[in-house]
Amino acid sequence: MLGVCYYPEHWPQSLWESDAKEMAELGLKYVRIGEFSWSRVEPSRGNYSFDWLDKAIEILAKQNLKIIMCTPTATPPKWLIDEYPDVLPVDIHTGVTRGFGSRRHYDFSSENYQREALRISEVLAKRYGTHSAICGWQTDNEIACHDTAHSGSEMAKESFQFWCEKRYKNIEQLNQAWGNVFWSMEYQSFQQIELPILAVTETSPAHQLAYRRFSSDQVIEFHDRMINVIKHYSKNQFITHNFIPMVDTQTDNFALADSLDFASYDNYPLGRSDMFFKNSVAADFKPYMRTGHPDFSSYSFDQIRGISHQNFWIMEQQPGPVNWAHHNPRPEKGMVRLWSWQAFAHGAECICFFRWRQAAFAQEQMHAGVKRNDNSKAAAWTEIEQMRDELAAINLCVDTKVNAKVAIVTGTLNQWVCEIERQGDSYNHQQVEFSYYSALRQLGLEVDFISQDSAIEQYELIIAPCLPMVSNTFVEKLKATKAQIVFGPRSGSKTEEFSLAPNLAPGLLQSLIPVKIISVETIRPDCSEILQFQGQTFESRCWREELKFDESDLDHSIFSIAKYHDGSTAVAQFKNISYIASLTCESFLIEFFDLLTNKVNLNTLRLPKDMRMVRRANLVYLFNYSPNHQSFPEPEIGKFILGSEKMKGYDVAIIDTIK
Ligand code: GAL
Repeated sequence: MLGVCYYPEHWPQSLWESDAKEMAELGLKYVRIGEFSWSRVEPSRGNYSFDWLDKAIEILAKQNLKIIMCTPTATPPKWLIDEYPDVLPVDIHTGVTRGFGSRRHYDFSSENYQREALRISEVLAKRYGTHSAICGWQTDNEIACHDTAHSGSEMAKESFQFWCEKRYKNIEQLNQAWGNVFWSMEYQSFQQIELPILAVTETSPAHQLAYRRFSSDQVIEFHDRMINVIKHYSKNQFITHNFIPMVDTQTDNFALADSLDFASYDNYPLGRSDMFFKNSVAADFKPYMRTGHPDFSSYSFDQIRGISHQNFWIMEQQPGPVNWAHHNPRPEKGMVRLWSWQAFAHGAECICFFRWRQAAFAQEQMHAGVKRNDNSKAAAWTEIEQMRDELAAINLCVDTKVNAKVAIVTGTLNQWVCEIERQGDSYNHQQVEFSYYSALRQLGLEVDFISQDSAIEQYELIIAPCLPMVSNTFVEKLKATKAQIVFGPRSGSKTEEFSLAPNLAPGLLQSLIPVKIISVETIRPDCSEILQFQGQTFESRCWREELKFDESDLDHSIFSIAKYHDGSTAVAQFKNISYIASLTCESFLIEFFDLLTNKVNLNTLRLPKDMRMVRRANLVYLFNYSPNHQSFPEPEIGKFILGSEKMKGYDVAIIDTIK
């Protein structure tokens, strides 16, 4: 299923009919509208203007297009800000109020904002909640994007104090939990508590963590209230939200997705790659400059599938150059089709392109659309036509599931710990997680992202690249599985309130693997050292831990499976548990995971570089991210229903394994 994001309010009404007709001809079935339209649906307080919106809906519906209606709450209009200036958030780095004139200019702690946002959501839900052309709702837009989860306002401070009181009950307990005796930071009452911002030097990590927990809770609570408002009035309409990459929201995405029918993702492979690989050398980056890294989009797809434990939508798909990254190349010919097929392969049910027509005015003039601003067809058009025809020929069933046997355990809490306590400039939580993910994908393994609360029975290999805070219940669950389990460095090192594990790292995990971390060092990324594994030499870099375990263990149930340059242990193994005490290179991870998959009878496949394979139900999808022809090594696994084993550059192929 395909769709598009459309802004009827940006175009003269005379274009709407032909737009809708062309959308239908292009094979689009869904149109998302309305997410920034507050100033048009309510030009002044209580003065609603729905004629234009009703008309747009009618025109789209006449072409059998189904509509996703959005709450317009990401853009409170000027009259509202003038009436309630406290809606504007305060920048936590400067203490200055962030201004009107862009979007997301609201403070989650502002009661005035919350009330008004829920009011406009209710007005829309009442009006369109049973409309037959509206198939579902998108809440807000990319909630907490543009660093808006946090605000440094007085209201945020008061709400934080209230949150602290609820969590810690009495002030002594809070002082104790945060270690406030350390620099005479002790409080006598909750009303004295400051936000951990704008201080002379670093504030206590426990204080910072509490502030992030509070801010995240606040986003989720507001979002849940909005969902309840929509649910109250809507019938047979889904509710979703368009997420950005998990690390960018400072919000617990698993909790945020909990009350949705499914999660959606906004996929901008080139814009996001440009930012993620900002520090890569040209030799590593340039091959992927116009394609994105082969694992980069799927890293987000698998996460988005993970947070709601089910299939997802792409609510916005990059169709050409964007305008907001450091550099904005255009995609190679064929990539819009490839990215879209890749999303389907990883569990998408629908792909909506952003946006129908390039805007000639305001902030995103340089952002491509499916059409250009003169209404001519832009580069993505023919690729979408091709998708339309291929989807019809294959008769793709979008309800099927990806059935992964490998899980990566993730969670915002652990990201926060690593951001708050870097310890070395080169430790980046997302990059660590991505390198583990990419190694698994290069072996052709499907991967689920799960939280510590998720069920784990279906997995044969469970990997925690970075889990400083582990819960008791998670550890108990792990005790009961026969899966191979891998922990990366830092795991189990912290208590829930951000202190060192009292029994040394890996803390609670010592009941799974009897090792202790007796020292930690971080080193420059260009000063890597040697890691020996099975007669081969790999790299140990950036983060290294010194491991201790009982060498006199007679049956050798615990042993070193990889060593540092000085012969000390870099990776320890005990029964089905491995602890990797260093950050390593990708080639080590590939060899190591391959070894573990053999132990649990998981099949891996060494694919040509830049080729990727993923299985969704009976279909195996192949993607060639390289400009060159490449052949798939195992074509006999089924019948090709799209393309063949000899793949052209940037091509897609699909094999049906039951034909
Ligand atoms: C998204 C956002 C859209 C638009 C787009 C441009 O993150 O939701 O409204 O700004 O980026 O790429």
